[in-house]
Formats: sequence, structure tokens, C-alpha cells
Amino acid sequence: MRLNWGMIGGGEGSQIGPAHRLGAGLDGAFDFVAGALDHRAEAGRDYGRRLGLGDRAYGDWREMLEGEAARDDRIDLVTVATPNATHYEITRAFLEGGFHVLCEKPMTMTVEEGEAIVGLARETGRICAVNYGYTGYSLVRHMRAMIARGDLGRTRVVVAEFAHGHHADAADAENPRVRWRYDPAQAGVSAQFADCGIHAMHMASFVTGQEVERLSADIVSALPGRVLEDDAMVNFRMSDGAVGRLWTSSVAIGRQHGLTIQVFGETGGLRWAQEQPNQLYYMPLGQRLQVIERGECGLSPEADRSSRVTVGHAEGMPLAFANIYSDLAEAIRARRDGRAMDPAADLYPRAEDGLRSMAAVHAVAASGKADGAWIDARPPMFR
Ligand code: NAI
Repeated sequence: MRLNWGMIGGGEGSQIGPAHRLGAGLDGAFDFVAGALDHRAEAGRDYGRRLGLGDRAYGDWREMLEGEAARDDRIDLVTVATPNATHYEITRAFLEGGFHVLCEKPMTMTVEEGEAIVGLARETGRICAVNYGYTGYSLVRHMRAMIARGDLGRTRVVVAEFAHGHHADAADAENPRVRWRYDPAQAGVSAQFADCGIHAMHMASFVTGQEVERLSADIVSALPGRVLEDDAMVNFRMSDGAVGRLWTSSVAIGRQHGLTIQVFGETGGLRWAQEQPNQLYYMPLGQRLQVIERGECGLSPEADRSSRVTVGHAEGMPLAFANIYSDLAEAIRARRDGRAMDPAADLYPRAEDGLRSMAAVHAVAASGKADGAWIDARPPMFR
């Protein structure tokens, strides 16, 4: 049975809206039936109607919550793809209304709000997922499976990067798409780490299966006048002893997207880059380099399940998002049918991950101010 899906934010011209619509629509699991897509009510309604939402194109999210709650064919899942400072209020309201939610990152602005969302998801029994969408890539999932089954032995070192150069021009200071990101009133305690660094840190946890426990950060604002950081180097330690290194930057001119992850264990190393997501580089100790291709034979069930196009043709970011949606469709159906979920699909990032990221964001800001002091990066509720 097809599921009903709605979206808040992701209006015309937004950065991330189209990737969600492509991802949710790809496998025929979800019908896009409702939305409050824009902060300008009329523009949101107009765009929603053009996308086929009819009278379920709402002017704002409160109207949508009320309208959907009253329907028999209410949405099964809502995606929250608005700017960061609104995530908490909207996610909270929809969980309380009994809806499953996929929230964009960062899930909240504070650790306390993150704990409240985790608590609420547990209390209501609703799914609250967080869109660390890059974990949907087939070869990221294969990397995780290889590490879990011991192909690298014990993990020694993880190196994660998310460094781009798109905020490097001082002439952009007043550009509305850039300015808010470095304004503490709108962005909170961190800019680049909260925007991109958390993807890299979550990826380090996702592939190794270890949580970040403590960290030390060196943060800088490379452009004069910026209050929040545009470059950070973070050292961290993980729950099963892995050592983590993370560099994130928005002033790395020449770098485009820049998310990469490398894991080094006792008996091998792995390297994957978001800009070449169809190849995973595997170096077994003392042997020759192997290039693992997405879609080839002999990959893990997790990788097979999240791969659609024949080997040799590139799959990109909207298809990674589609895998998060496919996991969520399976999770919603399994709950409805009262059956266990397919373990190869049980990989979508949870509210707990969003909370851990928020604790890391605040630890990075505090450590950066304290000259790199080592700080507990775990949220209080997981200590
Ligand atoms: P954007 O500024 O390009 O678009 C935001 C959209 O939300 C606009 O259409 C705006 O009109 C709408 N909006 C704002 N307030 C609203 C409200 N109260 N109700 C309904 N609609 C509202 O922003 P962008 O870059 O698309 O980012 C949105 C979120 O997605 C952010 O939290 C960002 O961190 C996250 N993001 C996640 C990525 C990922 O890889 N997971 C990548 C890019 C962004």
C-alpha cells in the first residue's frame, strides 16, 4: 500500500526541497499529497498547487497540522525542511499530533530541545528520523557492513572531512543566503560545524558503529568580522577506542562539496568520497588496492538493497535520500503490520543521532573557546 507524504519548507528555489521530492517519489512508496512549502503563505500555496497538492497546499505548517489531523487519509510521514531554528517547534508539534517525522539536520538548536524530541518520540511511539542523507549511499552502507563484519579488524583511526569553499568571498558578507549562517541569533553557537561538520561526525559514527564520547576543537573565523567559525579541526575519541580526526571548512576555495570518510583498522583501510560515491577504495593490509563499484556482485545485503541502477551508471545524492525514504516506508509498514523490520533497511538516522550531533555542536563551541580543552561530547541523557 502506498503511503501519504507531506513536506514543510522546501519551497520553490530552495536548496534541499527538490532532493526530498525526488527521493520520496522514487520507489513509488510515497505519494506527495500535502505541503506548507514556503514562509510566504501565498507563494507556498501557489507552488504546492503547481506540484499537484490541490487543497492540501497549505499556507503554513499550523494550518497543515490542523488540516491533516482532521483527515482519514492523513499523511503518514512529514518532512521538515525549513531553516534550522524552526525544526524543533515544527517537529515537536507533528510528533505530538501523532505523525511520523523526518527532520532536516540540525534537528534542534540546543541539547535540551534534542533531549525533549528524543523523549517525545519514545513517549508517542512515533518515528523521528533525521536526514543525514549521505548515509543512504549504497557504498557507505557497504563500508559500514564491512567494518561491522571485521574486514578491517579493530578500527584504529577515522578521518572525516566536510570542507567546501563556498563562503570564502568576503564580498558575500551581506548575501542573505550566507549572512544568517554566521549570525549567532539565527545560527546558534556554531556555523560551519553545525552546518557541515555534523554530517562528517555522524558519518564517522555510522560507518564505525561507535559513538563520539569526547572532543577537542580548534575553531577559527578565517574571514574578518565573522562571529562564528568558518573552519574547524576537531579531534575526538569514540566509544570502542577509535581515534577521530575531522576537518570542516567553508573557506576551502576549490573544494566543492567535500565530504569524505576514511577508516583505518588493524588489517585494512577504506576511503569514500561523496563526489565519487560509486566507488569505495579498499586497501587490505599487504595486498593491492581494490576499487569496489556500487552495484557489482557480492556486496552486502544493505548495499544491494540501496542500489537501483545497473553497475557502471552513476547514482547520486537524490538516490541516497531515496534510501532514507525507503527505510522509512519499510519502518512505517512494519509497525502497521506488527512485524519486525528488514534489518537491511533499519539504517535511517534517528532522533538520538540528531541529539548526539547537537551535544557535539555545543562541545565544539565550548572547546574552541577554551583553547581546545577536551570536553565530554555526549548528551546528558546518554552519559
Ligand atoms: P533554503 O533557504 O534554500 O530553503 C528553505 C525553504 O523553507 C524556503 O522555501 C522557505 O520559504 C521555506 N520556509 C522557511 N520557513 C518556513 C516556514 N516557517 N514554513 C514553511 N516553509 C518555510 O534552505 P535549504 O538550504 O533548503 O535548507 C533547509 C534545511 O535543510 C536546513 O535546515 C539545512 O540545514 C538543511 N539541509 C540539509 C542538507 C542535507 O544534506 N541533509 C543539505 C542542505 C540543507
